Amino acid sequence: MHAIERARELLSNFGRIVVFTGAGVSADSGVPTFRGSSSDALWGKYDPQQLASPEGFEADPKLVYDWYTWRRSQLASVTPNPGHNAIAVLQRERGAIVITQNVDGLHERVAPSNARVLRLHGTILEDQCTDCSHRETIGLTALPPLRDCPRCLGKMRPAVVWFGESLDGATLHAADDACTSADLMIVVGTSGQVWPAAGLVHRAKRARAKVIVVNLEPSELDDLADVVLHGRAAEVLPALVQL
Ligand code: OAD
Repeated sequence: MHAIERARELLSNFGRIVVFTGAGVSADSGVPTFRGSSSDALWGKYDPQQLASPEGFEADPKLVYDWYTWRRSQLASVTPNPGHNAIAVLQRERGAIVITQNVDGLHERVAPSNARVLRLHGTILEDQCTDCSHRETIGLTALPPLRDCPRCLGKMRPAVVWFGESLDGATLHAADDACTSADLMIVVGTSGQVWPAAGLVHRAKRARAKVIVVNLEPSELDDLADVVLHGRAAEVLPALVQL
């Protein structure tokens, strides 16, 4: 049996579905990944300690904020791709729960209105104050400069989780619950190198979920998979869901 047929069989046989995504699902929309063989991969060109850590922001807030402004400006012209659409079908028709490491908001743009997307690493579409946690939505067309919080003396920063920071406890708890009770986990476009996010796949596997990995290249999570589908998420996911 071909891998895609085996994966389709798992999809039709198992009820409680969790889809766990990473940057690769947005790559086909033109959003760069962080790792992997692409020459656009962000951590191949930029230093994550400088641009994605509280220490980096403290050392040079403008450098860090301007880098996020550049990433936000890239998102202004980006739209969800057939991979995001296939996942939205699973949300709508199979009640799938989406857990994402992505901060780009592309799942949310096509998700059914009653479906939750658990964002482990926050959102690039909001800023938050370093001191009082006041939050502001950022429009992608008129991007604000680095500025102080209107409520206190803190600095506004992107509302994403940086290296060395904790994930939101309630979100991680909800994700953990979903993985513990999942029958099937579909892992899409992630290198599996960042924890605790990657630990959710281990959690689902330990709870006896079947695991399908969809990724362009081999990943750290392949060993946990019952089926590995190598290819682009925008092609493999519609074929899996049979759109
Ligand atoms: P990575 O950039 O680490 O991994 C992306 C994976 O997607 C790689 O294994 C690629 O081979 C694969 N890939 C690339 N294009 C693809 C495509 N079209 N279809 C399918 N797969 C494709 O991204 P993440 O695992 O999401 O943290 O990275 C985890 C975290 O590290 C991110 O959330 C980010 C980063 O530092 C924060 O923003 C806090």
